[in-house]
Amino acid sequence: MNRLGEVIVSRERISNMVNEIAGMINADYAGKELMLVGVLKGAMIFLADLCRAVDIPVIIDFIIVSSYGVETKTSGVVLLRKDIDEDIKGKHVVIVEDIIDTGVTLNYLKDVFESRNPASFKICSAFDKPSRRVVELVPDYCGIKIPDEFVVGYGLDYAGMYRNLPDVRVLYND
Ligand code: IMP
Ligand code: MG
Repeated sequence: MNRLGEVIVSRERISNMVNEIAGMINADYAGKELMLVGVLKGAMIFLADLCRAVDIPVIIDFIIVSSYGVETKTSGVVLLRKDIDEDIKGKHVVIVEDIIDTGVTLNYLKDVFESRNPASFKICSAFDKPSRRVVELVPDYCGIKIPDEFVVGYGLDYAGMYRNLPDVRVLYND
C-alpha cells in the first residue's frame, strides 16, 4: 500500500524558490526573449508558476518524454514522444523539469536541444536528488535539493496521482 508521508518541502519554500529562480532568469536574460520548454507532465505546475514570476518576454512550449529502465539501470533509454512546435535555432532556451534523479532524461534532452544550435541552452529544475546521479549533470537553475526519497506533489506523481498536492511529500510503499 502507498501511504502519503510527511511534507518535506512546504508550499512556502516552493514559492520562495520560484521567486529566487525567476529573479536569476530576469537578470540573466534581461533585454532578451526566452523560450521556456516544460517537460510534461511533471513540470506543468512549476512552469506555470515560474512563467508568471519572470518579467521578461517568454514563449512557452512543451515536450513529452518516456523513460525506460531509468529506475534500475545505469543507462535508461529516453524517447522524445512529443517535440516542441518551433525551431530553436538562434533562440535562448531554458528547459524546465520537475526533478532530476539519475540525470538520464535531461542528459538526453541536453544533447537533442544543443544539436539544434540555440543561442543558449540552460536547464532549470524545481527539485534535485544529486545523490542518485548516474550521469554527470548539473542544472543551471536548481531549486531545492531533496534526499533520496520518493516524493510526490507540486507536479510530481506516482502512477499519475498526487500531482496536485501543493506541498512536496514523501510517498511510502509499505
Ligand atoms: P531521471 O533524472 O532521468 O532519472 O528522471 C527524472 C524523472 O523521474 C522526473 O522527471 C520524474 O518524472 C521522475 N522522478 C524521479 N524522482 C521522482 C520522485 O521522487 N517522484 C516522482 N517522480 C520522480
Ligand atoms: Mg518527469
